[in-house]
Amino acid sequence: MLDTTDMRSTLAEHYDLAPNIDLAASMSDLHAKMERSLPFPDWAMHAPYVAAINRLKKERNAVILAHNYMTPEIYHGISDFVGDSLALAIKAMEVEQEVIVQCGVHFMAETSKILNPAKTVLMPDMGAGCSLAESITAEGIAEMRAKYPGAPVVSYVNTTAEVKAASDICCTSANALQIVEAMEGDTVIMTPDQYLAQNVAAQSSKNVVYWPGSCVVHEQYSAQEMRDYREANPGTRIVAHPECRPEVVEEADFTGSTTGMIDWVRQNRPERVLLVTECSMAANVAEELPEVDLTKPCNACPYMKKITLEKVLWSLHTMTEPVEVDPEVSARARVAVERMIDLSRKLGL
Ligand code: 13P
Ligand code: SF4
Repeated sequence: MLDTTDMRSTLAEHYDLAPNIDLAASMSDLHAKMERSLPFPDWAMHAPYVAAINRLKKERNAVILAHNYMTPEIYHGISDFVGDSLALAIKAMEVEQEVIVQCGVHFMAETSKILNPAKTVLMPDMGAGCSLAESITAEGIAEMRAKYPGAPVVSYVNTTAEVKAASDICCTSANALQIVEAMEGDTVIMTPDQYLAQNVAAQSSKNVVYWPGSCVVHEQYSAQEMRDYREANPGTRIVAHPECRPEVVEEADFTGSTTGMIDWVRQNRPERVLLVTECSMAANVAEELPEVDLTKPCNACPYMKKITLEKVLWSLHTMTEPVEVDPEVSARARVAVERMIDLSRKLGL
């Protein structure tokens, strides 16, 4: 458990972290990428951290991999690579630097460690979990296998290494349907997201059976909310993540992974879009899409939001906390993740 007081006093001894208008102004190229969501006074508070992290990152030979749900000062200010879970996993395999700092949640850091075990993978806050990853254990997978003998198990990457190790293959929101379709047999077990599974089932030829997990962010959206919003704002396009309930997905003009959602908006440039996902997504692309009114029915992920600039600086300063995965579990989990990546590449995803 991080002791915030200790962290702050130690950081203050080594870095000048007071809000700094001159420094912020000298880093206006970075601020330009997030001006609409981060006013200058806020940028002046973040700039000393951004400068210190970017310096330290080079000294430590580190790379920062960040998920699309990170706040703008992390996403634009310090990240070397941003993306959805699939892109982050693929990138982790290719990292040559000694250290990966994972700005995202724990299962993402674990996936990086599984795919590139020789690297030090740092998690700025070990408490950054995920309601889906917490909903199932390897015993749950065994239960599903006993209930549906012979059916392949497709586990979402939002799972622990132990669950991945007990699964036949992984999937992400970017490839779930295609992975399920590629499985042998009529019945496919999907874990742990019941809504992703139901959304896949709606388009699949397979009999998809699933575990009853859910995402605390996406399960909050309702179809009525979508209809009310569209009625009050005619012409709004709705773009939803597949962790939303099927009735929400039915209201959407497009459903896809976080990067898929951003790409759809980039390509279609509608006048007004409702991004039915985590808050920071809209903030991160606001600058590059000034003509699009990005309305966000803002639900923040309490886990993703545990990652802050202060904790990233602490993580690089102290080289904590390194993510460790039992080698035997890691080797089995790697098979499931690599199968997904190989199949995705073969299918051109
Ligand atoms: P993506 O793989 O679509 O980025 O989703 C990850 C996630 O945790 C969404 O809640
Ligand atoms: Fe997990 Fe949902 Fe947060 Fe994604 S948004 S990390 S699925 S709790």
